[in-house]
Amino acid sequence: METPLKNLAVVGAGAMGSGIAALFASKGLQVVLIDPVEGALPRALAVIERQLTVYAPDGIRQALARIRTSPDLQAAAGSELVIEAVPEKLELKRDIFSRLDAICGPRTLFATNTSGLSINAIASAVSRRDRFVGTHFFTPADVIPLVEVVRNDDTSPETVDRVMAALRFAGKRPVLVRRDIPGFIANRIQHALAREAISLLEKGVASAEDIDEVVKWSLGIRLALSGPLEQRDMNGIDVHYAIASYLYKDLENRQEPSALLKQKVESGQIGAKSGQGFYTWSPERRERVLREKSAALAELAEWLQRKAG
Ligand SMILES: NC(=O)c1ccc[n+]([C@@H]2O[C@H](COP(=O)([O-])OP(=O)(O)OC[C@H]3O[C@@H](n4cnc5c(N)ncnc54)[C@H](O)[C@@H]3O)[C@@H](O)[C@H]2O)c1
Repeated sequence: METPLKNLAVVGAGAMGSGIAALFASKGLQVVLIDPVEGALPRALAVIERQLTVYAPDGIRQALARIRTSPDLQAAAGSELVIEAVPEKLELKRDIFSRLDAICGPRTLFATNTSGLSINAIASAVSRRDRFVGTHFFTPADVIPLVEVVRNDDTSPETVDRVMAALRFAGKRPVLVRRDIPGFIANRIQHALAREAISLLEKGVASAEDIDEVVKWSLGIRLALSGPLEQRDMNGIDVHYAIASYLYKDLENRQEPSALLKQKVESGQIGAKSGQGFYTWSPERRERVLREKSAALAELAEWLQRKAG
Protein backbone atom coordinates (compact mmCIF):
# COMPACT_ATOMS: atom_id res chain seq x y z
CA MET A 1 0.00 0.00 0.00
CA GLU A 2 1.38 3.43 -0.94
CA THR A 3 1.79 5.77 2.02
CA PRO A 4 -0.80 8.58 1.97
CA LEU A 5 1.46 10.67 4.25
CA LYS A 6 5.22 10.83 4.70
CA ASN A 7 5.37 12.59 8.04
CA LEU A 8 3.36 13.74 11.01
CA ALA A 9 3.71 15.54 14.32
CA VAL A 10 2.36 14.19 17.60
CA VAL A 11 1.81 16.79 20.33
CA GLY A 12 1.82 15.37 23.87
CA ALA A 13 4.16 12.45 24.61
CA GLY A 14 2.17 10.67 27.32
CA ALA A 15 0.48 7.27 27.21
CA MET A 16 -1.41 7.97 23.96
CA GLY A 17 1.08 10.22 22.16
CA SER A 18 3.94 7.77 22.61
CA GLY A 19 1.81 4.88 21.28
CA ILE A 20 0.69 6.92 18.25
CA ALA A 21 4.29 7.98 17.52
CA ALA A 22 5.52 4.37 17.84
CA LEU A 23 2.80 3.11 15.51
CA PHE A 24 3.46 5.53 12.64
CA ALA A 25 7.27 5.29 12.99
CA SER A 26 7.02 1.48 12.82
CA LYS A 27 5.17 1.90 9.49
CA GLY A 28 7.93 4.04 7.98
CA LEU A 29 6.63 7.59 8.57
CA GLN A 30 8.85 10.36 9.92
CA VAL A 31 7.46 11.50 13.28
CA VAL A 32 8.19 14.55 15.38
CA LEU A 33 7.06 14.06 18.99
CA ILE A 34 6.51 17.32 20.87
CA ASP A 35 6.20 17.82 24.64
CA PRO A 36 7.43 20.79 26.69
CA VAL A 37 7.07 19.12 30.10
CA GLU A 38 10.37 18.30 31.84
CA GLY A 39 11.23 14.58 31.55
CA ALA A 40 8.26 13.71 29.31
CA LEU A 41 10.24 13.02 26.11
CA PRO A 42 12.88 10.63 27.58
CA ARG A 43 10.04 8.80 29.38
CA ALA A 44 8.14 8.53 26.11
CA LEU A 45 11.15 7.15 24.24
CA ALA A 46 11.56 4.42 26.88
CA VAL A 47 7.85 3.51 26.53
CA ILE A 48 8.13 3.50 22.73
CA GLU A 49 11.10 1.14 22.88
CA ARG A 50 9.15 -1.19 25.20
CA GLN A 51 6.13 -1.13 22.89
CA LEU A 52 8.16 -1.75 19.75
CA THR A 53 9.69 -4.86 21.30
CA VAL A 54 6.11 -6.18 21.52
CA TYR A 55 5.06 -5.84 17.88
CA ALA A 56 8.03 -4.68 15.77
CA PRO A 57 11.02 -6.38 17.41
CA ASP A 58 13.03 -6.51 14.18
CA GLY A 59 12.60 -2.86 13.30
CA ILE A 60 13.18 -1.12 16.62
CA ARG A 61 16.33 0.77 15.63
CA GLN A 62 14.89 1.95 12.30
CA ALA A 63 11.59 2.99 13.91
CA LEU A 64 13.33 4.89 16.71
CA ALA A 65 15.53 6.65 14.14
CA ARG A 66 12.36 7.99 12.47
CA ILE A 67 11.25 9.73 15.69
CA ARG A 68 12.58 13.23 16.36
CA THR A 69 11.67 14.87 19.66
CA SER A 70 11.23 18.53 20.55
CA PRO A 71 9.89 20.60 23.45
CA ASP A 72 8.83 23.31 20.99
CA LEU A 73 5.50 23.39 19.12
CA GLN A 74 7.30 25.16 16.27
CA ALA A 75 8.77 21.73 15.34
CA ALA A 76 5.33 20.82 13.89
CA ALA A 77 5.93 23.23 10.97
CA GLY A 78 6.16 21.24 7.73
CA SER A 79 4.10 18.30 9.04
CA GLU A 80 1.35 16.91 6.80
CA LEU A 81 -0.74 15.86 9.81
CA VAL A 82 -0.67 16.88 13.49
CA ILE A 83 -2.24 14.59 16.08
CA GLU A 84 -2.76 16.22 19.48
CA ALA A 85 -2.70 14.04 22.62
CA VAL A 86 -2.31 16.50 25.50
CA PRO A 87 -4.35 16.28 28.75
CA GLU A 88 -8.15 16.31 28.44
CA LYS A 89 -8.66 20.05 29.01
CA LEU A 90 -10.65 21.99 26.46
CA GLU A 91 -8.82 25.31 26.87
CA LEU A 92 -5.38 23.65 26.63
CA LYS A 93 -6.35 21.85 23.43
CA ARG A 94 -7.84 25.02 21.92
CA ASP A 95 -4.73 27.02 22.79
CA ILE A 96 -2.42 24.43 21.21
CA PHE A 97 -4.46 24.27 18.00
CA SER A 98 -4.69 28.03 17.66
CA ARG A 99 -0.88 28.20 17.92
CA LEU A 100 -0.51 25.29 15.46
CA ASP A 101 -2.83 27.12 13.06
CA ALA A 102 -0.25 29.92 12.84
CA ILE A 103 2.76 27.55 12.73
CA CYS A 104 1.60 25.01 10.11
CA GLY A 105 0.99 25.52 6.41
CA PRO A 106 -2.65 25.76 5.25
CA ARG A 107 -2.72 22.19 3.92
CA THR A 108 -1.69 20.52 7.21
CA LEU A 109 -4.45 18.33 8.64
CA PHE A 110 -5.26 18.59 12.36
CA ALA A 111 -6.55 15.76 14.56
CA THR A 112 -7.35 15.63 18.26
CA ASN A 113 -7.25 12.45 20.31
CA THR A 114 -9.78 13.78 22.83
CA SER A 115 -11.71 11.04 24.64
CA GLY A 116 -14.99 12.85 24.28
CA LEU A 117 -14.72 16.65 24.35
CA SER A 118 -16.67 18.37 21.58
CA ILE A 119 -14.75 18.30 18.29
CA ASN A 120 -16.67 21.43 17.24
CA ALA A 121 -15.54 23.26 20.39
CA ILE A 122 -11.86 22.35 19.80
CA ALA A 123 -12.02 22.96 16.03
CA SER A 124 -13.46 26.45 16.51
CA ALA A 125 -9.97 27.53 17.68
CA VAL A 126 -8.60 27.17 14.12
CA SER A 127 -9.27 28.76 10.75
CA ARG A 128 -9.15 25.36 8.94
CA ARG A 129 -12.16 23.62 10.43
CA ASP A 130 -12.57 21.74 7.14
CA ARG A 131 -9.18 20.11 7.79
CA PHE A 132 -9.91 19.16 11.40
CA VAL A 133 -11.14 15.81 12.80
CA GLY A 134 -11.16 13.81 15.98
CA THR A 135 -9.05 10.64 15.85
CA HIS A 136 -9.95 8.71 18.97
CA PHE A 137 -7.40 5.95 19.55
CA PHE A 138 -7.72 3.31 22.28
CA THR A 139 -5.00 2.42 24.71
CA PRO A 140 -2.50 0.93 23.90
CA ALA A 141 -2.83 3.20 20.86
CA ASP A 142 -0.36 1.26 18.76
CA VAL A 143 -2.02 -2.10 19.42
CA ILE A 144 -5.82 -1.68 19.50
CA PRO A 145 -6.98 -1.68 15.85
CA LEU A 146 -9.97 0.65 16.02
CA VAL A 147 -9.85 4.46 15.73
CA GLU A 148 -13.03 6.57 15.82
CA VAL A 149 -12.76 9.36 13.25
CA VAL A 150 -15.10 12.12 14.33
CA ARG A 151 -16.26 14.94 12.04
CA ASN A 152 -16.87 18.47 13.18
CA ASP A 153 -19.72 20.27 11.40
CA ASP A 154 -17.30 21.64 8.76
CA THR A 155 -14.91 18.69 8.17
CA SER A 156 -14.52 18.11 4.43
CA PRO A 157 -14.95 14.65 2.87
CA GLU A 158 -11.34 14.94 1.55
CA THR A 159 -10.03 15.36 5.10
CA VAL A 160 -11.97 12.30 6.28
CA ASP A 161 -10.65 10.29 3.31
CA ARG A 162 -7.02 11.30 3.86
CA VAL A 163 -7.06 10.66 7.60
CA MET A 164 -8.83 7.31 7.13
CA ALA A 165 -6.27 6.35 4.45
CA ALA A 166 -3.36 7.24 6.76
CA LEU A 167 -4.89 5.17 9.56
CA ARG A 168 -5.54 2.20 7.28
CA PHE A 169 -1.96 2.45 6.03
CA ALA A 170 -0.85 2.19 9.68
CA GLY A 171 -2.91 -1.01 10.03
CA LYS A 172 -5.88 0.57 11.84
CA ARG A 173 -9.60 -0.01 11.33
CA PRO A 174 -11.01 3.53 11.31
CA VAL A 175 -14.76 4.08 11.68
CA LEU A 176 -16.45 7.39 10.88
CA VAL A 177 -18.57 8.93 13.64
CA ARG A 178 -20.95 11.12 11.64
CA ARG A 179 -21.99 13.45 14.49
CA ASP A 180 -20.01 15.21 17.21
CA ILE A 181 -21.72 13.52 20.16
CA PRO A 182 -20.23 13.47 23.71
CA GLY A 183 -18.17 10.30 24.25
CA PHE A 184 -18.54 9.34 20.56
CA ILE A 185 -19.54 5.65 20.27
CA ALA A 186 -17.07 3.61 22.31
CA ASN A 187 -16.91 5.75 25.44
CA ARG A 188 -20.70 5.95 25.66
CA ILE A 189 -20.85 2.15 25.60
CA GLN A 190 -17.78 1.74 27.85
CA HIS A 191 -19.19 4.13 30.46
CA ALA A 192 -22.61 2.48 30.42
CA LEU A 193 -20.85 -0.83 31.17
CA ALA A 194 -18.56 0.67 33.85
CA ARG A 195 -21.45 2.53 35.54
CA GLU A 196 -23.31 -0.76 35.94
CA ALA A 197 -20.16 -2.66 37.07
CA ILE A 198 -19.33 -0.03 39.72
CA SER A 199 -22.95 -0.01 40.87
CA LEU A 200 -22.92 -3.82 41.28
CA LEU A 201 -19.72 -3.50 43.33
CA GLU A 202 -21.28 -0.78 45.52
CA LYS A 203 -24.36 -2.92 46.10
CA GLY A 204 -22.12 -5.82 47.21
CA VAL A 205 -23.52 -8.15 44.53
CA ALA A 206 -20.02 -9.54 43.89
CA SER A 207 -16.33 -8.71 44.40
CA ALA A 208 -14.39 -6.60 41.86
CA GLU A 209 -12.53 -9.74 40.81
CA ASP A 210 -15.75 -11.67 40.22
CA ILE A 211 -17.46 -8.84 38.31
CA ASP A 212 -14.42 -8.61 36.03
CA GLU A 213 -14.35 -12.41 35.69
CA VAL A 214 -17.99 -12.47 34.56
CA VAL A 215 -17.48 -9.74 31.96
CA LYS A 216 -14.16 -11.05 30.61
CA TRP A 217 -15.20 -14.67 30.14
CA SER A 218 -18.77 -14.16 28.91
CA LEU A 219 -19.57 -10.87 27.20
CA GLY A 220 -15.93 -9.89 26.63
CA ILE A 221 -14.87 -13.00 24.78
CA ARG A 222 -18.04 -12.93 22.66
CA LEU A 223 -17.84 -9.21 21.91
CA ALA A 224 -14.43 -9.71 20.32
CA LEU A 225 -16.22 -11.56 17.51
CA SER A 226 -19.69 -10.02 17.28
CA GLY A 227 -20.81 -6.53 18.30
CA PRO A 228 -23.81 -5.91 20.54
CA LEU A 229 -26.26 -5.41 17.65
CA GLU A 230 -25.13 -8.45 15.67
CA GLN A 231 -25.27 -10.44 18.91
CA ARG A 232 -28.90 -9.33 19.49
CA ASP A 233 -29.77 -10.53 15.98
CA MET A 234 -28.25 -13.89 16.77
CA ASN A 235 -30.08 -14.17 20.11
CA GLY A 236 -33.37 -12.88 18.71
CA ILE A 237 -34.64 -9.32 19.04
CA ASP A 238 -37.88 -10.67 20.55
CA VAL A 239 -35.88 -12.25 23.37
CA HIS A 240 -34.02 -8.98 23.93
CA TYR A 241 -37.31 -7.06 23.96
CA ALA A 242 -38.82 -9.37 26.57
CA ILE A 243 -35.79 -9.01 28.87
CA ALA A 244 -35.50 -5.25 28.27
CA SER A 245 -39.17 -4.83 29.25
CA TYR A 246 -38.51 -5.86 32.86
CA LEU A 247 -34.75 -5.25 33.25
CA TYR A 248 -34.20 -1.68 31.99
CA LYS A 249 -36.03 -0.17 34.95
CA ASP A 250 -33.66 -1.91 37.37
CA LEU A 251 -30.40 -0.87 35.65
CA GLU A 252 -28.12 1.84 37.04
CA ASN A 253 -29.06 5.15 35.44
CA ARG A 254 -27.63 7.76 37.82
CA GLN A 255 -26.71 11.08 36.24
CA GLU A 256 -23.61 11.79 38.40
CA PRO A 257 -20.51 9.65 39.16
CA SER A 258 -21.33 7.41 42.13
CA ALA A 259 -20.29 7.95 45.78
CA LEU A 260 -17.74 5.11 45.52
CA LEU A 261 -16.12 6.66 42.45
CA LYS A 262 -15.97 10.09 44.12
CA GLN A 263 -14.52 8.64 47.33
CA LYS A 264 -11.83 6.72 45.40
CA VAL A 265 -10.73 9.86 43.57
CA GLU A 266 -10.82 12.05 46.70
CA SER A 267 -8.70 9.57 48.66
CA GLY A 268 -6.14 9.25 45.86
CA GLN A 269 -7.04 5.63 45.08
CA ILE A 270 -6.98 6.28 41.35
CA GLY A 271 -5.82 2.92 40.09
CA ALA A 272 -2.58 1.27 38.99
CA LYS A 273 -0.66 4.56 38.80
CA SER A 274 -1.32 5.30 42.52
CA GLY A 275 -0.87 1.73 43.80
CA GLN A 276 -4.54 1.33 44.72
CA GLY A 277 -7.82 1.41 42.85
CA PHE A 278 -10.36 -1.40 42.79
CA TYR A 279 -7.24 -3.60 43.07
CA THR A 280 -3.84 -3.17 44.78
CA TRP A 281 -0.88 -2.51 42.45
CA SER A 282 2.85 -2.62 43.19
CA PRO A 283 5.04 -0.80 40.63
CA GLU A 284 6.42 -4.19 39.53
CA ARG A 285 2.94 -5.67 39.05
CA ARG A 286 1.84 -2.60 37.10
CA GLU A 287 4.88 -2.80 34.78
CA ARG A 288 4.46 -6.56 34.29
CA VAL A 289 0.72 -6.32 33.58
CA LEU A 290 1.28 -3.45 31.12
CA ARG A 291 3.92 -5.42 29.26
CA GLU A 292 2.04 -8.73 29.28
CA LYS A 293 -1.30 -7.16 28.32
CA SER A 294 0.26 -5.24 25.42
CA ALA A 295 1.86 -8.44 24.11
CA ALA A 296 -1.32 -10.49 24.58
CA LEU A 297 -3.50 -7.78 23.00
CA ALA A 298 -1.15 -7.52 20.02
CA GLU A 299 -1.38 -11.29 19.52
CA LEU A 300 -5.16 -11.33 19.95
CA ALA A 301 -5.66 -8.34 17.62
CA GLU A 302 -3.51 -9.98 14.94
CA TRP A 303 -5.46 -13.24 15.23
CA LEU A 304 -8.80 -11.42 15.04
CA GLN A 305 -7.69 -9.30 12.06
CA ARG A 306 -6.61 -12.49 10.25
CA LYS A 307 -9.97 -14.12 11.05
CA ALA A 308 -11.91 -11.03 9.92
CA GLY A 309 -9.90 -10.86 6.66
N1 LIG B 1 -5.23 7.13 28.28
C1 LIG B 1 -6.25 6.67 27.58
O1 LIG B 1 -6.70 5.53 27.75
C2 LIG B 1 -6.87 7.51 26.49
C3 LIG B 1 -7.60 6.87 25.47
C4 LIG B 1 -8.12 7.65 24.43
C5 LIG B 1 -7.95 9.01 24.43
N2 LIG B 1 -7.24 9.61 25.46
C6 LIG B 1 -7.06 11.06 25.39
O2 LIG B 1 -5.75 11.31 24.88
C7 LIG B 1 -5.27 12.54 25.43
C8 LIG B 1 -3.95 12.27 26.14
O3 LIG B 1 -4.16 11.29 27.14
P1 LIG B 1 -2.96 10.48 27.81
O4 LIG B 1 -3.60 9.36 28.54
O5 LIG B 1 -1.90 10.22 26.81
O6 LIG B 1 -2.44 11.58 28.85
P2 LIG B 1 -1.01 11.67 29.55
O7 LIG B 1 -1.19 12.48 30.77
O8 LIG B 1 -0.38 10.32 29.64
O9 LIG B 1 -0.15 12.51 28.47
C9 LIG B 1 -0.37 13.87 28.21
C10 LIG B 1 0.98 14.43 27.75
O10 LIG B 1 0.77 15.78 27.36
C11 LIG B 1 1.91 16.52 27.79
N3 LIG B 1 1.58 17.94 27.84
C12 LIG B 1 1.07 18.66 28.86
N4 LIG B 1 0.95 19.94 28.48
C13 LIG B 1 1.40 20.02 27.19
C14 LIG B 1 1.52 21.08 26.24
N5 LIG B 1 1.17 22.31 26.55
N6 LIG B 1 2.03 20.80 25.02
C15 LIG B 1 2.38 19.53 24.69
N7 LIG B 1 2.30 18.48 25.56
C16 LIG B 1 1.80 18.74 26.78
C17 LIG B 1 2.28 15.91 29.13
O11 LIG B 1 3.64 16.19 29.46
C18 LIG B 1 2.04 14.43 28.86
O12 LIG B 1 3.22 13.82 28.38
C19 LIG B 1 -6.37 13.06 26.36
O13 LIG B 1 -7.18 13.94 25.64
C20 LIG B 1 -7.12 11.78 26.71
O14 LIG B 1 -8.46 12.05 27.11
C21 LIG B 1 -6.68 8.89 26.46
